[in-house]
Amino acid sequence: MSKVLIMDHPLIQHKVGVIRRIETGSKDFRTIISEIAMLMTYEATRDLKLVDVEIETPICKTTVKELSGKKLAVVPILRAGLGMVDGMLEMIPAAKVGHIGLYRDPETLEPVEYYCKLPADSDEREVFVVDPMLATGGSASAAITLLKQHGCKRIRMMCIIAAPQGIRRMEADHPDVDLYIAALDDKLNEHGYIVPGLGDAGDRIFGTK
Ligand code: PRP
Ligand code: URA
Repeated sequence: MSKVLIMDHPLIQHKVGVIRRIETGSKDFRTIISEIAMLMTYEATRDLKLVDVEIETPICKTTVKELSGKKLAVVPILRAGLGMVDGMLEMIPAAKVGHIGLYRDPETLEPVEYYCKLPADSDEREVFVVDPMLATGGSASAAITLLKQHGCKRIRMMCIIAAPQGIRRMEADHPDVDLYIAALDDKLNEHGYIVPGLGDAGDRIFGTK
């Protein structure tokens, strides 16, 4: 069964409130999506393993903690997932970045794949799939199926706003994948948009509407 962690940190909640507002323009939307991703990464990496390492300070020898060297990858679902990458890399600069291109067919709401480029050793990495929106869950589920076909075994999903349908879909299709979300909304409307949501995340990040 997936672990679903809702990140209720006040800074995250405040910033989600700002990106929901219709009057927030693309520049601020982009900046804040990136800030939320950075804060979510801080929480979602809480269980990374540390090892003891002997070092020398200017004063004496001592033991410090270091990340155990487990390799990480960030995989945004294009387009909107791109908005979360820079914020994550601020926190985990050594992570490699893969890309999965999917768009939702507006009629069927089914995901259509158009691009996939992953780090060569992605099957050895702990993978963070990122997309601001988890609506029906079709895109996230398809992206994770693709990663599993490439041999990835340790996968986590980070999204900012989720609908209950999306969470149910992820639990059914990928019960081994933990989900990190900033807000759980009420439902989907008749066009598959999250209510209250924030509209079309890709259009708001890239100013395409
Ligand atoms: C949006 C969003 C997710 C998907 C969520 O992308 O960024 O990828 O919809 O919907 P789902 O959970 O019902 O699959 P969209 O297909 O609009 O593409 P875009 O990012 O290129 O705008
Ligand atoms: N994709 C979006 O960008 N927004 C939604 O509300 C649903 C899917």
